[in-house]
Parts: sequence; structure tokens; C-alpha cells
Amino acid sequence: MAEAVRYEGRGEVGVILIDRPPVNAIDVAVRRGIQTALDQALADPAVKVVLLACEGRTFLSGADLNELGGAIEAPGYYETFDALEASTKPVVAVLHGTALGGGLECALACHYRAAVADARMGMPEITLGIVPGAGGTQRLPRLIGARPALEMMIAGAPVDAAKAKAMGLIDEIVEGAPLQGGLDYARRLAAQGAPVRRTGERTVDAAGFSEAEVADYLKSQARALKGRTTQEKTIAAIRAAIELPLADGLKREDELSQASLKDRESEALRHVFFAEREVGKIPGLPAMEPAPIRKAAVVGAGTMGGGIAMALANAGVPTALIEVSQEALDRGLKQVRENYEVTVSRGRMTPQELEQRMGLIRGATSQDAAADADVVIEAVFEDMDLKKKVLAGIDAVAPPHAILGSNTSTLSITELAKATRRPEQVVGLHFFSPAHVMRLLEIVRGEQTSSQTLVTSLEVARKLKKTGVVSGDAFGFIGNKMMQDGYFREAEQLLLEGASPEQIDAVMERFGFAMGPNKVNDMAGIDVGTKVREELYKRESRPDPYFVVSDALTAQGKLGQKTGEGVYLYKAGDRTAYPNPATTALIRELAQARQIPQRTIDDAEIEERCILPLINVGAQLLDDGIAYRAKDIDVVWTSGYGFPRHLGGPMFYADTLGLKHVLERVAHYHETLGHYWTPAPLLVRLAGEGGTFTQFDQHRG
Ligand code: NAI
Repeated sequence: MAEAVRYEGRGEVGVILIDRPPVNAIDVAVRRGIQTALDQALADPAVKVVLLACEGRTFLSGADLNELGGAIEAPGYYETFDALEASTKPVVAVLHGTALGGGLECALACHYRAAVADARMGMPEITLGIVPGAGGTQRLPRLIGARPALEMMIAGAPVDAAKAKAMGLIDEIVEGAPLQGGLDYARRLAAQGAPVRRTGERTVDAAGFSEAEVADYLKSQARALKGRTTQEKTIAAIRAAIELPLADGLKREDELSQASLKDRESEALRHVFFAEREVGKIPGLPAMEPAPIRKAAVVGAGTMGGGIAMALANAGVPTALIEVSQEALDRGLKQVRENYEVTVSRGRMTPQELEQRMGLIRGATSQDAAADADVVIEAVFEDMDLKKKVLAGIDAVAPPHAILGSNTSTLSITELAKATRRPEQVVGLHFFSPAHVMRLLEIVRGEQTSSQTLVTSLEVARKLKKTGVVSGDAFGFIGNKMMQDGYFREAEQLLLEGASPEQIDAVMERFGFAMGPNKVNDMAGIDVGTKVREELYKRESRPDPYFVVSDALTAQGKLGQKTGEGVYLYKAGDRTAYPNPATTALIRELAQARQIPQRTIDDAEIEERCILPLINVGAQLLDDGIAYRAKDIDVVWTSGYGFPRHLGGPMFYADTLGLKHVLERVAHYHETLGHYWTPAPLLVRLAGEGGTFTQFDQHRG
């Protein structure tokens, strides 16, 4: 393997050149190499200025995540960065690509910083529940002030070069290739006789960092920080930067950073982070190349079809959007344009980009438009016969290699595939609304779906920057099955037993969901759930006595936000949920008719009864082979259903509760509430063995 770091003497500039593909993560070879190259530069009498630059697509992108939480091989981060800062010759870093976390911390320890215009810099450690642990909390405040440093570390969003320059984070924006731009800048500094300028010797501007001001800032970030604690430790570290000399501050930072790594919050966030990267590796799937996705077609330009076409266009894939009539097509395209216009109005897209994206979406009213597509996705009404007809038509015109995806929420992929002559190329591609925004893509494997089709479907997810999770072909797949048979069903029971919608929603929002189940029901449309369950009864031929409140609201035409009344009341143009006395009366009536006594239910019971069924149904899905691994379930629920990331997803959360405890509580509700709480055999087995879902995953591969 090529050396991770090279030293090149270029006249007055000694270059430390890092080359550690793919993203120049700061592993031990890089740290060792930086130190050796720095020694060479310092020993080279011709060298006046040292330049630290990276080959490849980015500057040091961050810490080596494989070392997170484990032992760090020497030299460590502190040692390496301290050596850069202590250099007796000025050290300049030139940034390109993304300098995040440890990458930026390295640049902070240099004496001068330049960046190319499209470089991005940030301190995203908080997203993994970690306090920066390579000097960032001490040097960043010294460079840009305590308050801007706090904002960079709490919001976790990267800044571009122009903003970085305005903040004093970098000194210069350079033109051209990073190495050349860096060399030019280093030579200018050499010519000026620029002195060493150690960040650690500066004092911190503490403006805007009084306790009250910090508290106000945290309030403004309350939504993102709900249930989180990392920010408290980050703030303590910044206070140390204000109050202590660098060496002592670094010690304090190290303690806080190490402590943060041991927090359950960080373990959970890292679990989700790694799980999102691992779900695409399917146990037992042979290694094969995905088919290229050059062109696509989407059938149905409704809510989902339009969003899916946008997701494809955003990935640069020319897409035919096919509707039944010109009128429906015009409506669909208009909606797509309006969605893009919102993005433009928020400054996240230029009008030219809008036109370019619209140019990639070609409207059509004939299925012939799918004749050159590599992937076709149908998103017509949720109706088996209609979907079969549409798929048969597409099968007749699409190229033989094309895969046919269905966006169905409930229907059997195996059954749908029968309508085509290529059942092995039919797959569920279940997007979430809004499809151009939500990151989750459930990939549903029918009985005949081939490995090649799965591999290509995972490529669709990758290309669309989505997280693809493979599910078996059972009713509701992973996500909706757990929602209907777990979470929502119990929320509905709690209504009948006397908990108010407001109380249930408040408990679940405190738990960490952005919205409680009743508000979600109103937002999605209560009739949507009713229709889903009708399909369920047909498919599993079981009666379902559990959704009486929702189904009664559907029957009354109170469908949620879209009709101004559902579980809650809504005012025109206002999505705030107001209490609805009619719902209270309806629930009471329904409970009486079923002889369910209403009582006061405490918050702890509500939380337990809403969360435990998710775990129990999840365990059942693992037992049935519908989900491969517990982490697949965790990714589905954190990226598609709003389960709080800092709790790691329902299965990881179960591990933190302890499976023995989970089983005891499930068994308790089984006794008191009935058969639908029957503990899943896998839960019984793991609890009996003292095992965890994490261990179960390790066996699955
Ligand atoms: P929608 O009612 O907004 O759109 C369906 C569109 O299909 C309509 O524009 C209709 O004109 C068109 N269509 C009907 N027959 C057609 C045909 N033969 N050829 C071409 N176009 C045809 O429905 P929505 O909400 O977009 O749902 C579509 C599918 O996505 C359903 O299977 C649904 O279960 C699923 N889904 C919906 C989600 C949601 O949140 N709305 C989430 C995930 C999946």
C-alpha cells in the first residue's frame, strides 16, 4: 500500500501530503505520518513554511471511526495536533471537500488555514453523541469565539468557505486545485515572513456565552436536542476553554469526551449510524454487480409517484412520469413544480436547477414511455387488480432487463409479480411520504425476487441517497406491520380505556417522537389506516377489533387534517391540533358499547404499552425472517417512523431496558390484556439466555 503521508520539499515550502483513500480518515498511519513529515520539514533548512494538504476528494474527513470507543494506538490525536501547533515554523492547512470533526480539529491546530471555495467544515460529533475529543472544544472557541463555536458544535451543520472566512475560521479562500492553491498561499506567507501563530495561545472571546444566553440558545434548539444530554458536556468543555490554559482545557475536554462515549445516548446514536451503513449488506446475498440505472419510469403521478419522480430527478436520472389522463398528468407535474418552488423559495435550489430537474421528468400518458427504462416504479391506487393490470402492461413494453418496483404499502409482492412474465424482477420499492425527502426505502423481496433484482434495488436506494432496508413479503412489511399491530393498536386501546388523545401524544412526544400517534393518524389521513386494515383482513382473514375509534372516525368522514376534523380539530390553514370534544364523546360511547371501563391511566403505563408491542412484534418479524436483523428494524423505525435516534431504535432500546425486564412486562400485559400480547418466541428465548438483540445480529452476520 502507498504511504499514508509523504513529505515533499518544494523550495521554501515543506509539504506534508496525506493520501489515505477513500476519505483521508485520521487513522494511526496518518497520525504517525504527519509527525514524521513534520520532523522532516522542521529539519529541512530550505523550508520556511509547512503546508498540510490532502490528495483525493477531501481534506482529512474526520477521525477513524473504527477507533471510536476503543483503545487509540499512539500517537494519539492530542499528541499529533499538539506537535503541529508547537511547530517552530508556521504550519498552513489547505482544506477541500469536507473537513469534519477530527479533520477540522487538525486544521485548528495549524497556524493558518486556507480552503477552496467549495470546501465544507463542521463539528458534527454531537450527531453521534460525542463531545469533540481532539482539541476542537478548546481551539475552536479561541479562534472564532465561544458563541459561534457553541453553535457549530450544537447545530452540527457544516459551513462553507465563505462563511468560514467571515467567522475567522479560515484565513484565505484559494483558487484552483487545493495543493496548488495551498502552495501559492504558503509561498505568500513565506515571502511576508509570516510568524508562527498558535491557536492555543489565544484567549477566548466569551461574548454571548453567559448562562442566560446559552440557555436561550439551547431553547432555540429544543427540537433537535429533545431528550439529549451531549450538549451539556459540550458546554462544560467550552467553559473550560474560557477559563483554563490550553493544556488544562484539553485535559478537561478529554475527560468529557471519554465520558460522552460511555453514555447510552452515544452508544445508541453510533448504533444507528453504523446500522444505516450495514443494512445494505444482506447476509447470504452473492456478490454481484447491480444493473446500471440510467433511465426510469414512474406510473402514477399522485402524492407518491410525483415524489418518487423528484427523488429520481434529484439523482440525475431521466424519468418518464406516466398517468392515465392528460388532466391527471398536468395536475401531477404542477404539484412536482410547486414542491420544487418551495425548495427554491427556501434558498436550497436555484431557479436554473429547478428547470433542469423538471427537464429530467418527462410526462406521458402511455405506458410506451417505459420502453427504455431500467427501473419502473408503479405508484397507482392501492388496489390489487389495478396494480396487476398496470404491471402486466408495463411488463409488455419495458426492456427485458428492467426491474419492476411496486410502491404498495400492503399488497403481496409475490401476488403482484404473478401478473408479469418476469416475477424474479418484481420487487417492492416502498417509499415514504414525502418521497423526495424521507430517507427510508423498504425493499420488499417477493418469493421469486432474484438476488440480482435485490442488488439493483439496493443500488436504486444508494443512487437516490436513501437507506434501503430489505424486508420479507408480509403484510405491512417491517414498518407498517409494527405500527399497525404494535404501536397504533395499543394507542387505540388506551383511548378506549380512558387515556385522552392529548395525554397519549404528550407521553410519546416526551419519549422522543416528533408527533404522538393520534396526531400522526390525523396527518396521514385516518382513512388511510382504515383502508390498510381492510386489506389486512382480506389477506390474513382475521377480524380486528382494535381500531374501533379510527374506523368510526373514517365512517363519519372525519379523516384528520385534510377534512379539518379527525381525532383533533383543525382551523383552516393551521396544522395545530385542538382538542375535539366530539372525539371524547365518541370514545366514551364506543367504550361503553364494548363494556370497557374507563379509568385514569398514568403516563408510565402509556409509554410502556406503546413501546413494548413494537419490540414484541419486531421480535416476531425476526423469528419469521421478515426482518433479517434487529438493526434493520432499528433503521426502519428511526429513519421512517420518527423513533428517537438517541434511543437507538426499538430493538436497541429493548437491549438497554434488558430483555428479561421486557419479557416480564410483556407477559404481564399478556395476562391482563389478552392474546395479542403473546410474547414472541425469540423474545422468550433471548431473555431466557440472558441475550440481546445485538448478539442476535452478530450471529446473523
Ligand atoms: P394518489 O391517489 O395520490 O395517486 C395515485 C395516482 O395514480 C393518481 O394520480 C392516479 O391518477 C394514478 N393512476 C391510477 N391508475 C393509473 C394508471 N392505470 N396508470 C397511471 N396512473 C394511474 O395515491 P398515493 O398516495 O400516491 O399512493 C400511491 C401508492 O403508494 C399506493 O399503493 C399507496 O399505498 C402507496 N403509498 C402511499 C403512501 C402515502 O403516504 N400516501 C406511502 C407509501 C406508499
